[in-house]
Amino acid sequence: MVAKRVPLIAGNWKMNLDHLQSIAFVQKLAWSLKDARFDYAGAEVAIFPPFTDLRSVQTLISADKLELKFGGQDLSAHDSGAYTGEISGAFLKALDCSYVIIGHSERRQYHHETDEELAAKVAAAIRHGVVPVLCVGETAEDLEQHGPSAVPVAQLRAGLAGVEAGADIVVAYEPVWAIGSGQAATPEQAEQVAAALRATLVELIGHEAADATRILYGGSVKAANIAGFMRQPNVDGALVGGASLDLAEFSSIAQFQKHVGT
Ligand code: PGA
Repeated sequence: MVAKRVPLIAGNWKMNLDHLQSIAFVQKLAWSLKDARFDYAGAEVAIFPPFTDLRSVQTLISADKLELKFGGQDLSAHDSGAYTGEISGAFLKALDCSYVIIGHSERRQYHHETDEELAAKVAAAIRHGVVPVLCVGETAEDLEQHGPSAVPVAQLRAGLAGVEAGADIVVAYEPVWAIGSGQAATPEQAEQVAAALRATLVELIGHEAADATRILYGGSVKAANIAGFMRQPNVDGALVGGASLDLAEFSSIAQFQKHVGT
């Protein structure tokens, strides 16, 4: 039986918008979705601002009782101590973060984060009760050499090494060649890899948890192409970069149900 997965539309702001800009953005996003009579039971909407914005975002969301979720873009594998510049999962949890992105391709590429480090970060997130959004995806060279799913599947296995059956996680499939390029994967390509990832999840965390796990597609998602991805049986949402900084565009992506039938 296929579990009913609540889709997740996630906005990864990367290193954009300071804490004042974040407040204005979140307020406008909430108004826009309210105006559109957005049904939060039908889809979760989460934003991932820079660390320095999180307290402002948390205060606004809790004071105005908004139904938006939020999370960090990274966390430390350690819980506390002499790790200058690092952020503990405990701090994210204390700020009501529901999620944390782990292993985004920009962290893998520019900060040389290894699969082993990412597995330790996934474990840290789970330890602190923050749901990890583990990013996996192949480069254009990987695609040429190994085909579409080999590298993402290997990254998933490595990232979830040590995770117990039944774990609550989110997986984001983000082909590196599609990120920020304007060249999104086709819905069929996304589905092919998402299906391979779900089959791997069955092995790693068991049938029930694999069925319940949201697998997001990320890479040049826009209002104009979201419906195609959301029609795929194994794609349960999107991790949106550039378009998540454009209020009208991100609000429209969140309202994908309006386009799916068209
Ligand atoms: P993009 O980024 O939507 O700008 O392609 C996606 C991501 O990096 O998460």
